[in-house]
Amino acid sequence: MDDVFIELDGVEKVFDVRRKTGFLKRERRRVRAVDSISFTVARGEMVGYIGPNGAGKSTTIKMLTGILTPSGGRLRVAGIDPSRERTRLAHRIGVVFGQRTTLWWDLPLIDSYKLMHRMYRIPDARYRENLSRLTELLDLGDLLDVPVRQLSLGQRMRGDIAAALLHDPEVLYLDEPTIGLDVISKTRVRDFLRQLNAERATTVLLTTHDLQDIEQLCSRVMVIDHGRLVYDGALDGLHEAGESERTLVVDLERELPPIEAPPPARVVRVEGARQWLAFPASASASELVSRIAAEYPLVDLSVREPDIEAVIAKMYEDRAGRPVT
Ligand SMILES: Nc1ncnc2c1ncn2[C@@H]1O[C@H](COP(=O)(O)OP(=O)(O)OP(=O)(O)O)[C@@H](O)[C@H]1O
Ligand SMILES: [Mg+2]
Repeated sequence: MDDVFIELDGVEKVFDVRRKTGFLKRERRRVRAVDSISFTVARGEMVGYIGPNGAGKSTTIKMLTGILTPSGGRLRVAGIDPSRERTRLAHRIGVVFGQRTTLWWDLPLIDSYKLMHRMYRIPDARYRENLSRLTELLDLGDLLDVPVRQLSLGQRMRGDIAAALLHDPEVLYLDEPTIGLDVISKTRVRDFLRQLNAERATTVLLTTHDLQDIEQLCSRVMVIDHGRLVYDGALDGLHEAGESERTLVVDLERELPPIEAPPPARVVRVEGARQWLAFPASASASELVSRIAAEYPLVDLSVREPDIEAVIAKMYEDRAGRPVT
């Protein structure tokens, strides 16, 4: 398929770690940070890449940029092998590492951009056009003359995102772009990314610990754990994969003994005339509701969706209990 933009086939990254365990004593350990991962991302997709600390997310992104060379497997971005042709690829990708800046710390923001203009050999007209568009969209107007070290975290992040996009990359990798940002800054960054993806069809791979980022931006999510891909699909499907439950909150006319619901639905809490029933997220609520309505004096009811964070936490838990094969 020609619209496949990122392609990983059995990609691995093994680190040899040497640790001092005593006087003159060292222990060698192999860390399989990425363990045979395969996926493709089509041009224009916006995909969430999530997983617990140490799962292998940043390692994957570093291989996608060519900073790290895979220990095995096959990896292509825009048909290019990143670690072999890192410079050629650099013109086509943009990267933002939330935990460190690519901007020159002591220089005003605009000077970093001028340096990138030359580094990436961006045609003058293009550079001016992109700079003014990004300055407006990311609200950087008042910040261009401020040295980067004086910017707040949210301002710096917006500055970093603009820097990653000045050369019109076809794909943007974001490694925790909202880390440490307040709610307003997060919203700004998310709005911008949504617009970027919609208007310019930029492919986006987003790593984050903030699941709201994913809920608001990505229809597809990949979950990595212990270097392995444990889920790849629609965000909605995560609920089922996590075997999560929804909750039916029922208000009855009066206080009654717990409702006898068809299993696996069951009452998990009773408070006066209100009862809470848990049932599988994959099951239909309407069936359960009509059963209850037929047999009990109903006043009101509502369905609570499982909260995605609970689902994913449960997924990680389940994985942790399983032997690593
Ligand atoms: N340069 C390195 N040398 C040795 N081990 C490394 C190196 N980089 C990463 N690792 C190890 O590889 C594993 C995956 O790390 P990685 O940074 O990819 O995780 P992550 O999913 O990005 O986690 P986090 O959410 O904390 O950012 C970890 O066990 C980490 O300690
Ligand atoms: Mg990381």
